[in-house]
Parts: sequence; structure tokens; C-alpha cells
Amino acid sequence: MNAHSDIKGRRSAKGGKKQSCVMSRRSFLLTSGIATATVMVTMNAGTASAAKMPAAVATYPRKKIARLSQLKNDQPVEFSYPDEGAYSTNMLVKLGTQAGGGIGADRDVVAFNYTCTHQGGDMEGTYKGDTKSLGQCPLHLTTYDLTRHGIIIGGQAYQSLPQILLELDGDDIYAVGIFGLIYGRQDNLKA
Ligand code: FES
Repeated sequence: MNAHSDIKGRRSAKGGKKQSCVMSRRSFLLTSGIATATVMVTMNAGTASAAKMPAAVATYPRKKIARLSQLKNDQPVEFSYPDEGAYSTNMLVKLGTQAGGGIGADRDVVAFNYTCTHQGGDMEGTYKGDTKSLGQCPLHLTTYDLTRHGIIIGGQAYQSLPQILLELDGDDIYAVGIFGLIYGRQDNLKA
């Protein structure tokens, strides 16, 4: 996995070493969304009945979605993630040019949710290979740049397109998380 924690060490004014953990939201998602975790929480803290209880923390599933060797430039492959619920349709595409969050030898394989962040327009079939973009959205014409984490090129939306975080294991491509909130959900893991 390509995740890194962006941990930077700093020195205090007195010269002693002080560790400061600076973790971006993306890194947090990368490092937190791929494994089931159980944490211990204190119930009724400060009371005689205080006790440590295990609490399951919801995490993203790890789902195999394609094989790298079968992808062709500018030919999107559709898949559902993180579930089969509302707005869970996504596209995986080999752009043929390096992209933010891209995997593979050329860092050009990326995946994005198909639902416009503005008002939920369905953008299936709107990928443009010449500009490496998704859109225009059929409702209000937003277009997203797939080489730069799905930022908006133009249109009515004001949030980037959710990017599916990918992991490469040999020739197998796995979806392991999502950067950004899917339209219509308050939690990506609750359809
Ligand atoms: S729903 Fe896509 S631009 Fe409005």
C-alpha cells in the first residue's frame, strides 16, 4: 500500500525533540479505512461501574474490482462501492497520464463515484478521454478533472467528486476506501 502518515518531527525552542503528528485527511482515510478495528472505550467514566468495553468501528470493505492487465486507456469499467446501495456506482479508468491518487506503474489508474456532488446528476457515460474529465453533468453542466482528485473544472457544483482509494496487489485492483462524501449520504458506509 502506498499510504504514508505525513509524520513530521519538530524540535522545541529548548532543543529537545518533540514529535508532532501531522496527518492529512487523505492519509487518515488511507490508513483507517482498510481494516476492521476494535477499540476499547470506557463506559460510565468516573463512576464505580466504569468498565472497558469493546466497540466495533465501521471501516471500508476491501473489494476486488478489476485486473490491471485488462484495462485499456480511456475505457472506464463500472463497479459498485462501498455497497450496492444508493449512489454507489463508480468508474475505474486508466487515463494514460499520471493522476493524483493513481496506481500502477504509470500512476494513471484512478476511480471516481459517478454521482455529481451538486444535486446528484448521473454522469455515467460522460467520461472524456481527450481532457481526462467526467462530465458535463446532464443537470447543470459540472465537469470534474480526474487527474487532480476530481476537482471542478466548471459548472454549478462546489465539491470535488468522491475518489475511490485503490490498492494494487499483483495484478488485482482493490477498492479500499473513499476520499469525499458520496452525494445523498451523511455517511459513505450508510446507504
Ligand atoms: S447535479 Fe450536476 S451540476 Fe447540478
